Amino acid sequence: MVKKSGPSAIGRRLFRNISRLYTLQGAMAKAGRRVQKEDLSLIENAAMIANGGRIEWVGREVDLAQERKGDSHAATDGAIDETIDLQGATVLPAFLECHTHLIYAGNRSAEFERRLAGESYQSIAESGGGILATVLPTRAAAMTELVAIGQKRVNRFLRQGVTTIEAKSGYGLTLESELNLLRAAGRLQSARVVPTFLGAHALPPEAESAHAYLMMLESQALPAVARESLAKRVDIFIEHGYFSADLARPFLHAAQNLGFDLVIHADQLTRSGGALLAVELGARSAEHLLQIEEAEISALAASEVTCVLLPSADLYMQCKYPPARALIDRGARVALATDLNPGTSPSQDLALVGVLARLKMQMSFAETLAAYTVGAAFALGLEKDLGALTPGRYCDFTVLTGSIDEIFLEVGQMPVAQVFCEAEQVWSL
Ligand code: NIG
Ligand code: FE
Repeated sequence: MVKKSGPSAIGRRLFRNISRLYTLQGAMAKAGRRVQKEDLSLIENAAMIANGGRIEWVGREVDLAQERKGDSHAATDGAIDETIDLQGATVLPAFLECHTHLIYAGNRSAEFERRLAGESYQSIAESGGGILATVLPTRAAAMTELVAIGQKRVNRFLRQGVTTIEAKSGYGLTLESELNLLRAAGRLQSARVVPTFLGAHALPPEAESAHAYLMMLESQALPAVARESLAKRVDIFIEHGYFSADLARPFLHAAQNLGFDLVIHADQLTRSGGALLAVELGARSAEHLLQIEEAEISALAASEVTCVLLPSADLYMQCKYPPARALIDRGARVALATDLNPGTSPSQDLALVGVLARLKMQMSFAETLAAYTVGAAFALGLEKDLGALTPGRYCDFTVLTGSIDEIFLEVGQMPVAQVFCEAEQVWSL
């Protein structure tokens, strides 16, 4: 599934001498809701066997030795092709970065100063800045440049322990340039890239109206994306000045009818109906959510929609943070991500996200870690394959340089020594 740069070895691998292995099995069993510390599911002195990139067995090393001696456990029968000694390290499931505008050209540093001088995101957008200011350099970039930009960002995520990365289109806003962004995402190496079609990110200057543009996306873009298998997910920015919930509804229905999963940028700048529409349509996730109130909180908590919270965007926008505590206490499933993009979150720092979740959204350490693994796996529809280290799932994990409580502590720094994706090392210090 993952295109790796090195040779691919598909054999039976034993990872041993893991002093602390947090499987997150408990958090996964609760589907990422109301996670407690014990749901991190610590196994001390652990070992793990992978076969063909998936986990076959995980447990205490002492049990592995006994079972292999007696050859009594089916999962541990058969030869081990390679043994990797992790030298007493701490191991966690790899992180998933589930909301990322991964591929865009240029930067919007000038807007940072303009916002500091008191201009709002919306007024900057109305005067030609915002998303459209990124569209011009992105449309002008060659495919090789887009791939190179995306690969550099993939590599930055990898060394923080991320093996699965969402890549939204949305800075092309013509049929061909949007398809090209998804094609570029398909060429990225070393990590699992999950492309999302966000043609409905903003209204391009040449569009007649939001309605006409959505009709074009529905009649031409969605079928083209499906035909070329460029993405299985469709996202839309529901917001005043962008797309209303009422205009979005038929477009999203059409996407669902073509088999796409839905994702919604919801209630970010104003309370504009995105979260309730996500619940109504059974979207995979609703993202941002800082403007939501009681009605949305109870609807989300009672639904299967994953609430993707993006606190570094809230930091850069100097606005409030989403009501994470209320969502979690009411039983909603929460995920965290960077929202890497050139405007509202020019950062791909997972530690910053985690620190903000803890400091500004009163999330516990266990909730934060589960949100970046189990919750994010649900947001991407990959909960059967990733998010926890249990038999049957991909063997994607990080080896820490120190103890678990060093993560989400120091901004700019994730204590990651090695990263494995489908049992193969994809990064090491
Ligand atoms: O997630 N909200 C819409 N999209 C981005 C911002 C994009 C931009 O400003 O370029 C976001 O915050
Ligand atoms: Fe976003």
